[in-house]
Amino acid sequence: MDQTTVNMPRIGEKAPAFKAVTTQGEIDFPKQYEGSWVILFSHPADFTPVCTSEFMTFATLEHKFTELNCKLVGLSVDGLYSHIAWLRTIKEKINYRGMKDVEVTFPLIEDITMEVAKAYGMIQPGESNTKAVRAVFVIDPKGIIRTIIYYPLSLGRNFDELLRVVMALKTADEFQIATPADWRPGDPVIVPTAGSCGVAKQRMESRDEMTCHDWFFCTKEIPAETIMKKILKK
Ligand code: BEZ
Repeated sequence: MDQTTVNMPRIGEKAPAFKAVTTQGEIDFPKQYEGSWVILFSHPADFTPVCTSEFMTFATLEHKFTELNCKLVGLSVDGLYSHIAWLRTIKEKINYRGMKDVEVTFPLIEDITMEVAKAYGMIQPGESNTKAVRAVFVIDPKGIIRTIIYYPLSLGRNFDELLRVVMALKTADEFQIATPADWRPGDPVIVPTAGSCGVAKQRMESRDEMTCHDWFFCTKEIPAETIMKKILKK
C-alpha cells in the first residue's frame, strides 16, 4: 500500500473487530456491543479546545443516545494516562456554555499504535499523519456500519445531527421507509419506489395515506409518537 492510500471501511460492511484498552477497561469491539447501536468516534488529540467542547457535549447528551439504545465509544491516538488526565481536567475545571462538572463515563480508547485508527480510515494524511480526523461510525446491533461521517480537525461535530442519524436509521429499519432531507420524527417519510411485489403491496395498502409528488416520489405521515414508541430503548 503506498503512503497516500487510506484503508476505509464502507457502509454495509461489518465493523472491523479489535480489542483495546479504554478509560473504562478493556473492550472487545464490536462483539461486546452486539444488540446495541454504537457510535465509534475519533478525535485528534486530548487537551485541545474543539475536542473538549465535543466531549462535554457528547457526555451531556449521552442520556439521549442511551434512550435510543445507542452507546458511545471515543478514540484518539493518545495514551491512557493522557485520556484520564484530560477527562479529569474537563470534570474539575472546564465550564463551557452552561456545561460544568461534566463526567465522561463512556469508554475512550487509547490507540498509540494507531492500529484501530488505521483500520477505520481515521488517519487521513492530507489532514494529519499523526492525529485522527473527527470520524463518526454509526454501527447497528448486528455490527454493521450504517453511516460514516468524517470531519476535519478544525470543525466540531453537530450532535443534533448525530442523534438525528440514529433516529432516522432506526425509523427506516422499523417502518421500511426512507427519510427525506432534514427529516425529524413527525415529518413525512418517503415510501419506497414500487419495484418489488412487497413494495407494491405496501403501496396499495397505504395508498390513501400517501401524498405523491410524482410517480417516484411519495410520502406518508407517521406521527412522532408512533416512531418514538418503536425506536426508544430498542
Ligand atoms: C482542537 O480540538 O481544538 C484541535 C485539535 C487538533 C487540531 C486542531 C484543533
